[in-house]
Amino acid sequence: MGGTKKSNDVSTGSIEKEESVEEGLFFNGTILTLASILVILIGMLASQLGDIVTTISVLNSAGKGQHESRLSRHADERGVAGVTLQQDTDVAATITPFVDRNEPFVCRTCIPQSRLEYWSNDAAMLETVGPDAEIPVRFAKRALSSTAASSSGTLFRRLVTPGTSKSAYDERTMRFSEFLAAYDNKTSEDHLYGAQIPIVTHLPQLIDPIRASAPLGTLIEALGPTPPMNHKPLSMYIGYGPLKTQTHYDSLENFVCVMSGGMKTFELYDPATASLYMYINRKDEGNGASVFDNTGSKDSHHSFPLSKYAISTRVSLSPGDCLYLPVYWYHSVESSQDRTISINWWRMPERSKMMDLEHIFCSHSEASTTAARATCH
Ligand SMILES: *[C@@H]1O[C@H](CO)[C@@H](O)[C@H](O)[C@H]1NC(C)=O
Repeated sequence: MGGTKKSNDVSTGSIEKEESVEEGLFFNGTILTLASILVILIGMLASQLGDIVTTISVLNSAGKGQHESRLSRHADERGVAGVTLQQDTDVAATITPFVDRNEPFVCRTCIPQSRLEYWSNDAAMLETVGPDAEIPVRFAKRALSSTAASSSGTLFRRLVTPGTSKSAYDERTMRFSEFLAAYDNKTSEDHLYGAQIPIVTHLPQLIDPIRASAPLGTLIEALGPTPPMNHKPLSMYIGYGPLKTQTHYDSLENFVCVMSGGMKTFELYDPATASLYMYINRKDEGNGASVFDNTGSKDSHHSFPLSKYAISTRVSLSPGDCLYLPVYWYHSVESSQDRTISINWWRMPERSKMMDLEHIFCSHSEASTTAARATCH
């Protein structure tokens, strides 16, 4: 480039021009050489990083598909480690470090295809549970697919009771059979979503099929003990997308597997990021994060300017994939445009871990008690 400039300068002599051109070439050559060295260095660094990524991706299947999984990790699983379990895997030793650090992991093809067949049609489920089973169903006004706000589908959010800070889902009890007859009706303005259906109390007949489709038995146990019965230990989500949940956290460890579909995409925020940038307010909003809920778009950045720094991790699950979603990680979930079923196993977190994280949220250590929460924020 320097050479071209010089040769356009009429006042300079031809020799100087020549020299400049030479110099320019030499200079460009130096840059090229430096650039090549940089490229090589970056390449080496990247392969080092790749090795680290592979190491994190615990017990990856030897060789086969490794390159592919490494690529997809960088494409859609920023920061979420992959875990592959095999028959001879020491599950507890693999899982415990994640649980201790409160770090999510994704287990790809955690459930083999052959064990997912049961969930692919409604008739089999209906036959199992019988005609009288009832479930809680969430209702929302269906998003028109043409509007920008609905790019990720219908948003199922808790509605605030006017004049109060109380909010609740528009949730109605329906027969499972009635729900199945209506939930795929795209012409209805009511969008129905069977969300967080407590299996043990509402559809106990599904426990055996779930057991038959569960990932390696000890995996679930390794995440923590079963929560008390008043706190659903097992729940199912069934709906036709596209639909999306609010950004919220849960007070239990969550292990969720997509059984049929459809993809579920989780957008995750670690507790520290949430406490710094997401204007969380446990006292008024409980486990919700209104900062990302009203619009579902980044317009909310006007009202919540720091929220633009809240960088999320996204991970998409296909049927057979499972995600460990640690306690107090904020998340929203999108179901793709399909019939999608997921099952989740709730587990009790370590008390000491909860205390540590609650301390971050509310600047004191007993935020879970009602009295402490009243002084929070
Ligand atoms: C779908 O919903 C619309 C509007 O509520 C209703 O008129 C129609 O009968 C429903 N279709 C089926 C197959 O139930």
